[in-house]
Amino acid sequence: MTENQRRARINDAMRTDMGNAVLCWLATVDADGVPNVTPKEIFAAHGDDTILIADIASTNSVRNLSAHPKVCVSFVDVFRQKGFKVIGTARLVAQDDAAFKEVSAPLRMLTGGAFPIRHVIAVGVEKVSRIWAPSYSRFPERSEAELMDTAYRTYGVRPVLDEP
Ligand SMILES: Cc1cc2nc3c(=O)[nH]c(=O)nc-3n(C[C@H](O)[C@H](O)[C@H](O)COP(=O)(O)O)c2cc1C
Repeated sequence: MTENQRRARINDAMRTDMGNAVLCWLATVDADGVPNVTPKEIFAAHGDDTILIADIASTNSVRNLSAHPKVCVSFVDVFRQKGFKVIGTARLVAQDDAAFKEVSAPLRMLTGGAFPIRHVIAVGVEKVSRIWAPSYSRFPERSEAELMDTAYRTYGVRPVLDEP
């Protein structure tokens, strides 16, 4: 799919869930068609059509997408119990690429410089699907706040309230 054929865009709902998701999951496939899926905490939206993911220790993912650039990225806000699945094509930006400094900037902000980034995996967004927990359809009468309360109890945590 070329730049002009891309349809899906990163909207505000996606940005919100990306911000609230602890990590994303990057799925790639190797030369024999064997799938690989691993978590990446350092990821960010770039403009309205690209997701940037830091290769800090992702040797297999990088090797796979050098051969097969099609990827699937998913992320969920585990407390709101919803998120997104994105299909796209990845471009690897290496440290010696002229664009590396600019493209890696949002990811370096997230690491605070604590983790060297070997490549930026720049995923051009092509198709976006919503991920909902089954509770939204099973209990349609429950509000998002009620579902979140249930999730807090399930995970044994409490939200930190903002200082007055
Ligand atoms: C919570 C968590 C967050 C992680 N975040 C990242 C990340 O942002 N970038 C990265 O390259 N590896 C990250 N990792 C490490 C990779 O998932 C791990 O090295 C994995 O084995 C890489 O697999 P791959 O080579 O198949 O991509 C993270 C691991 C965990 C458990």
